[in-house]
Amino acid sequence: MKLKDCHNISDLRKAAEKRLPAAMFHYIDGAAGDEWTIKHNTNSFEQYEVIPNYLVDVDKIDTSTKVLGTQIDWPYICSPTGYHRLFHHEGEVAAANAASDMGTIFCLSTLSTTTIEEVAEKSKGPKVFQIYVLKDRSISVEYIERCKAANYDALCLTIDVPVNGRRERDLRTGMTVPPKLTLKSYLNIASKFDWTLNYLTHPPTPSMVNIEHRLKDAANDISVMDFMNSQFDRTVTWKDAEWMIGQWDKAFAVKGILSVEDAKRAKDIGASAIMISNHGGRQLDGCPAPFEMLKEIRDAVGDSIEIIVDGGIRRGIHVIKALAMGANACMGGRPYLYGLSVGGYKGAKYALQLLKDEVEQSMILTGVKNVSELNRSFLRRPGE
Ligand SMILES: Cc1cc2nc3c(=O)[nH]c(=O)nc-3n(C[C@H](O)[C@H](O)[C@H](O)COP(=O)(O)O)c2cc1C
Repeated sequence: MKLKDCHNISDLRKAAEKRLPAAMFHYIDGAAGDEWTIKHNTNSFEQYEVIPNYLVDVDKIDTSTKVLGTQIDWPYICSPTGYHRLFHHEGEVAAANAASDMGTIFCLSTLSTTTIEEVAEKSKGPKVFQIYVLKDRSISVEYIERCKAANYDALCLTIDVPVNGRRERDLRTGMTVPPKLTLKSYLNIASKFDWTLNYLTHPPTPSMVNIEHRLKDAANDISVMDFMNSQFDRTVTWKDAEWMIGQWDKAFAVKGILSVEDAKRAKDIGASAIMISNHGGRQLDGCPAPFEMLKEIRDAVGDSIEIIVDGGIRRGIHVIKALAMGANACMGGRPYLYGLSVGGYKGAKYALQLLKDEVEQSMILTGVKNVSELNRSFLRRPGE
């Protein structure tokens, strides 16, 4: 399936499934437990309809906005996601350049397969580093210093991983980083000729490059993945988040907010943005969809803090609904990952272009010239 035959994100997902070995595809596509939350993320947008106004001059529309201290061409940014070079050898640099060429922000994950510095050096657009408060605080401090030196525009602290969610598809496929070639996975991987060729001809094996150098200090012969998992700290509290904000002097977002209480806490400790997110359904299965919590959270925190929403956004109209409900911008992970998996830089850019075109078309059809005009009067909940 070629990129040009993909007419929406769902088509790109199917193309990614065809190209990737099962372990990689399901790592991207899968979620926690019964995967109730991931389904709910997209379905939640159906609870509202958009009411258009016609005979409005929409010859020229403006989709630009400012978030995380950066002016972007349209209100959608790339969520942080790990292990890009497992999906395509061009990896995070390709995704960052796709974001930059599409006029938006790229968030680099702590679990990236390209270093903080290399992404900064090889991509020109605005960048956010996604960080954790790790058990060994000196690692978090090191990341902050490296982001300052590499001139990242913002930090986003992910708070919804006191422990990894139980992703059962990964247990079934035996997903590991780097991939382990059991007979079953070898047969599956070998059947994906294009991916295998790229993987074998682009050494070294992708790994968690931002953390690797710390391994030598770790006890015993521990794998990078086990070391990283051992660094997730269940004792982290809002005091640690406040400490981290104090270490950074640019925009700071707290990612993984779902409750009104946490949104207020993030505001109280000085975050400039909150990212309403359930990690794309990969952590607590059974928690609400981000879009569902947006109204309550915006009403509770007021306008003085930016709100970015991610989870289940697959259509431009989802972005319009979120903005009308009170978000400053949206984000997404899987859409650009499906694209990256299919075609590297070109594929990631293609995914973003599909979404951007849909946002523009939905704005024109809604009768809105500027994203700042969107408000709740455009939304209707059937039956209310
Ligand atoms: C393959 C994959 C890896 C991810 N890795 C991270 C990560 O390292 N850090 C993080 O904060 N969120 C991570 N996320 C969650 C995303 O940042 C984002 O919240 C989620 O993908 C949004 O849902 P969507 O995929 O439906 O757009 C990951 C998501 C996926 C699909």
